[in-house]
Amino acid sequence: MDLRIRSFEEYQQKYAESVSNPEGFWDEIAKTFHWQKPYDTVCEWDFEGPDIKWFKGGKVNITENALDRHLEQRGNKLALIWEPNDPKERFVRLTYRELHEKVCEFANALKAQGIEKGDRIVIYMPMVPELTIAVLACARIGAVHSVVFAGFSAHAMADRINDAQAKMVITADGLNRGAKQVPLKRVVDEALQSCDSIERVIVFNCLDWSPNMAEGRDIWWHEAIDGMPKECPAEEMDAEDMLFILYTSGSTGKPKGVVHTHGGYMVYTAYSFQNVFQCGESDIYWCTADVGWITGHSYIVYGPLISGATTLMFEGVPTYPDPGRFWQVCDKHGVNQFYTAPTAIRALMAYGEDHVLSYSLDSLKVLGTVGEPINEEAWKWYHIHVGKERCPIVDTWWQTETGGIMISGLGDLSPMKPAHAGYPLPGIQPVLLDQEGKEIKENGVEGYLCIKHPWPSIIRTTYGDHERCRTTYFSHYKGHYFTGDGAKRDENGMYRIIGRVDDVINVSGHRFGTAEIENAVNACSIVVESAVVGYPHEIKGQGIYAYVVCDTFPDDLETARAEIVETVVEQIGKIAKPEKIQFVTGLPKTRSGKIMRRILRKIAEGEPDKLGDISTLLDPEVVADIVKGAL
Ligand code: WT7
Repeated sequence: MDLRIRSFEEYQQKYAESVSNPEGFWDEIAKTFHWQKPYDTVCEWDFEGPDIKWFKGGKVNITENALDRHLEQRGNKLALIWEPNDPKERFVRLTYRELHEKVCEFANALKAQGIEKGDRIVIYMPMVPELTIAVLACARIGAVHSVVFAGFSAHAMADRINDAQAKMVITADGLNRGAKQVPLKRVVDEALQSCDSIERVIVFNCLDWSPNMAEGRDIWWHEAIDGMPKECPAEEMDAEDMLFILYTSGSTGKPKGVVHTHGGYMVYTAYSFQNVFQCGESDIYWCTADVGWITGHSYIVYGPLISGATTLMFEGVPTYPDPGRFWQVCDKHGVNQFYTAPTAIRALMAYGEDHVLSYSLDSLKVLGTVGEPINEEAWKWYHIHVGKERCPIVDTWWQTETGGIMISGLGDLSPMKPAHAGYPLPGIQPVLLDQEGKEIKENGVEGYLCIKHPWPSIIRTTYGDHERCRTTYFSHYKGHYFTGDGAKRDENGMYRIIGRVDDVINVSGHRFGTAEIENAVNACSIVVESAVVGYPHEIKGQGIYAYVVCDTFPDDLETARAEIVETVVEQIGKIAKPEKIQFVTGLPKTRSGKIMRRILRKIAEGEPDKLGDISTLLDPEVVADIVKGAL
């Protein structure tokens, strides 16, 4: 199944077709997949509910499309290349046949441990092949996976397990990340003290650490698969059956479980993967994300495998053993498409060109970025030093909720403009709305980015709380999916994403709600109240700035800061550490008690002269104090 568009003219023609006849457009694409039973309708939708059904009546299993379907023609082709954290260690290569066997074997193990269709399984794993195997094994038997990034704390994991009412955790003794090792099983044990739903824990032996194994609950991966058959029929799933839950942050304190389904997600991830990366049959494709995020789900595991591509999975970090590691791996495996995040590019930029110039990078054809707006300087560095000015850069805009890439260049087909995601994929209908929710039709404008027609991998619900899905995404602008982003559209109709317009901060491409971080800060015993905002950060895109009120103003600021940081690490994880903590005697509030974040944001951005009108504040005095103490 080759779904690639081959020229910009063809893109324009397909785009027009997809708008005038969306159902026909998607039907053409969807029917090239393997359906156990064909679907009755392409799309039934209502954005009020929301109630969105793609490929209704169809029976399908995404893993049959990602594995079985390739066996005949690509059985001996590499499906997965795994590059370890330590470059001196051996890498792993799995053909489609081998991956199929391993997935089936582990799927049988899951069944033997009592897992049934519809059960939720939380996966908290290192970036090893077994992570991909675990994900696919769940899908194989119709269990719902919920991968939790292995940097989240026990507290954050427990919240997710409880929300999903998961029956099993799949984890490892520990993981390698650069020069560090992290004791994953210990974190799981701590989390499980506050979870009742977990019956079994499967532990993959990654570091030979002999962790605590709870009798009757915990079992080793290698023991669980012992004697299991390497064939396992794929469960028959409805196209709209849940495939996975992935938790992501929003503007309230509690992360929400974004739900994706078998049929639509399958179609869209493969379609977008092939078109954006223009990946050829013998290409080696590498996405540096972690499978714990949506990028890893869609563009390490599902999109590439459904497309029969060779996907590279990397255990380590960009700077270990030195800041040339990405480029060393590209040369070592002959990587053709390379997909990473602006924050990684900026971090490597800071180490200078030498590390990249010592590798040839001859194999590269397409470069990609994702996660946050890429600044022009980083874009140029990537283009010149990595792509040698011959590789197109696809700046891919999308979200956990969209399941796949929505606005992006397509390989070398599309015109390219630094810091611009560009044009929507055929099938995607973005619009810009003004404050009143009116569509701005001209070019050269700015507005709230919404999508006016569903696409196959649109979010279906937020797990256990459909109303939250409705109010967050479908209630702001009637008849539209609201992305939470602001965007510009230039004279030529190319989109440039500006960033979030809600209370969400994007730190190194990771999303946090300000309320979520405030809850964590407030959990510290010395804190009375806090307000968190984002501020521009050279490497991370945005950094976290916390304004904190304590019961008594701390004598020792450093100790107080350390205490707060430690609490945040406990509550969420290291990735959410506030960069700056300013102790204040009060927060700027309106008479109705609402914190005026706009003011705090300006101060954090170093623009205290642009606060605007502060006369409506309950106590305008506090502002002068905050400005004086700004970090
Ligand atoms: C938010 C979604 C989608 C995978 C990674 C993040 C921002 C994402 C871009 C881009 C500008 C981008 C948006 C979006 N974002 N890609 N190419 N240019 N901004 O997934 O955690 O769901 O975050 O990331 O603000 O809403 P996520």
